[in-house]
Amino acid sequence: MKLGQYELEVPVFLAPLAGVTDKAFRETVCAVGGKYVWTEMISDKALTYQNSRTLKMLDLQGETEPRIVQLFGSEPETMARAALLAIECSANVIDINMGCPAPKIVKNGEGSALLRDLPRAREIASAVVRAVDVPVTVKIRLGWNDDEIVAIELAKLLESVGVQMLTVHGRTREQFYSGNADWDWIRRVKREVDIPVIGNGDVLKPEDASRLIEQTGCDGVMIGRGTLGNPWLIPRTQHFLKHGILLPEPPIEERIQVALQHFDRVLNYKGERIGLNEMRKHAVWYIKGVRKAAQLRDEIMQTKSSEEMRVIFSRILQ
Ligand SMILES: Cc1cc2nc3c(=O)[nH]c(=O)nc-3n(C[C@H](O)[C@H](O)[C@H](O)COP(=O)(O)O)c2cc1C
Repeated sequence: MKLGQYELEVPVFLAPLAGVTDKAFRETVCAVGGKYVWTEMISDKALTYQNSRTLKMLDLQGETEPRIVQLFGSEPETMARAALLAIECSANVIDINMGCPAPKIVKNGEGSALLRDLPRAREIASAVVRAVDVPVTVKIRLGWNDDEIVAIELAKLLESVGVQMLTVHGRTREQFYSGNADWDWIRRVKREVDIPVIGNGDVLKPEDASRLIEQTGCDGVMIGRGTLGNPWLIPRTQHFLKHGILLPEPPIEERIQVALQHFDRVLNYKGERIGLNEMRKHAVWYIKGVRKAAQLRDEIMQTKSSEEMRVIFSRILQ
């Protein structure tokens, strides 16, 4: 599959996950063999106001191409300016969020609110495409609710203004994350446009990705929640799609080592105070399935320093 100058081989993308796919997690996914990762969603307004926390989210230094940055907003002009700023920070692809269901986003006309305002969705995409000379992609949901499915109409609109790739999460805004993703709608969208379509929703193991491609004809897959505490899911899925061979899950020793390396990155980028909070969240995900996980979870939640966290993880190793 081609995206601008990039030839993407069996694309398995790490989904944008706010509060999760920060630099430390993206680097961890790439360290275990993942290739294609996405930033968390970044506010166009905060970026144009040069908000310092937002600028940190755009630290892409040392990350491999294509560096895909996701922006959200509701004003075409501001989105275009934010896209240019992201490119100054070395983004290679600009992705536009048209799916976030969170009330605080939707009430500003951003994220999945755009599923109810197709002229504005089109204007935003068009303004960003005109402003930048890198590929622009969009991530959408199926529509606001079951009675307002707009995925095909929106996909065609976006294609017509020069969007080069679409990710379709097979849920409506009203579903949030409940129920099952409707892969059949992904198939229908794929049939109607010529640009690559990435399927998204409910891929929890490599075999799911293969079924998603088989059932929809999509050009690649995107995985979100399945990667929590499980960054290997991305390379294992890539391997399965490319070679048809299911690699085993890594042994506990390797999982703990990778978690510890992940924590080092978190500390490095976020410092002890914020870093520890972040680590607790990831740590609980990493120990899923480990013996006495419930007890470990309590200990993790009570850690008062990154050193204590390190001790817990070293103990699991022993
Ligand atoms: C905690 C969390 C944060 C998310 N943040 C974003 C985001 O910043 N941008 C976005 O487009 N989607 C976001 N999503 C949606 C995911 O990218 C993805 O579309 C959704 O989780 C379905 O894929 P999955 O079943 O593989 O998790 C988020 C989802 C979760 C659970």
